[in-house]
Amino acid sequence: MTPRILVTRRIPDSAVRLLESAGEVWVCDQDRAMTPAELHEAVHGADAVVTMLHDRVDGEMLDAAGSSLRVVANVAVGYDNVDVTALDRRGVLLTNTPGVLTDATADLTFGLLLMTTRRLAEGERLIRSGTPWAWNFSFMLGSGLQGKTLGIVGMGQIGRAVARRALAFGMDVVYTARNRVEAEVENELGADFLPMSELLERSDVVSLHCPLTDSTRHLIDGTALSRMKSSAVLVNTSRGAVVDERALARALREETIAGAGLDVFENEPEVDPELLELDNAVMVPHLGSATSETRTAMAVLAARNVVGVLDGSGPVSPVNG
Ligand code: DGY
Repeated sequence: MTPRILVTRRIPDSAVRLLESAGEVWVCDQDRAMTPAELHEAVHGADAVVTMLHDRVDGEMLDAAGSSLRVVANVAVGYDNVDVTALDRRGVLLTNTPGVLTDATADLTFGLLLMTTRRLAEGERLIRSGTPWAWNFSFMLGSGLQGKTLGIVGMGQIGRAVARRALAFGMDVVYTARNRVEAEVENELGADFLPMSELLERSDVVSLHCPLTDSTRHLIDGTALSRMKSSAVLVNTSRGAVVDERALARALREETIAGAGLDVFENEPEVDPELLELDNAVMVPHLGSATSETRTAMAVLAARNVVGVLDGSGPVSPVNG
């Protein structure tokens, strides 16, 4: 029987064509996330499903799919939207899209870092508001990056790409991670390993690149924020819930830290209303991987994963199994 492939959201044509080489493809054509009820109905009888980071893949969804389902191809490197244990129990493979979004996310991290330390969003708002301004020696001063310390939390591919960029900006790099990386990599990046508490105390910029798991949820809470320097900046391009957003808003309001650059939010797409009031919070709407090249590469990689599972050659980037 021809395999049935569900794609939960419009993806680039090149990826759809690839999927069509492996089965009958149904792409949800509405320009919004499917509701759980719509997803459960559409996935019934599918052999493969291509999911987005906002799709909840849990036991209920897998039961709705039924025993035909062989692979869930998540179009994201993060897979905190997926209950991997529920997939394992049913023998369903999960794949993600590592590698192809590394540079785009690292670039955006630096964009946010500069926006925050050099007050770019604030300056742009000032111009647009028509507020009179004039150059003077102390007008809208930010802080430079040269010689400052960047603390990277999570030294996977994206953390490493951020470290490389930091070197080009003349920054010192320290990092913390579940496992220390190989000495060769530390040397190449000039990165010193530190325990989390020390990294928070020493860094001028703390940048988050760890996945969201039970152990990283609210990793940056009130206590962690209170360890940071009052001149320091937090950048988050990982997942919103790695940070306790209420505690962050408090720290920014009370200026116990200097600023935050946020690409991700705890209850996306909702943003804590308090953050919206704060000039020292720079926010963009989950744009880490948002370049046309990267999004196409992500969709194509997800499609290659599906094809590999369905034709028996195996997935390119499996998470489990
Ligand atoms: C990911 O791949 O996890 C990104 O957040 C997608 O933008």
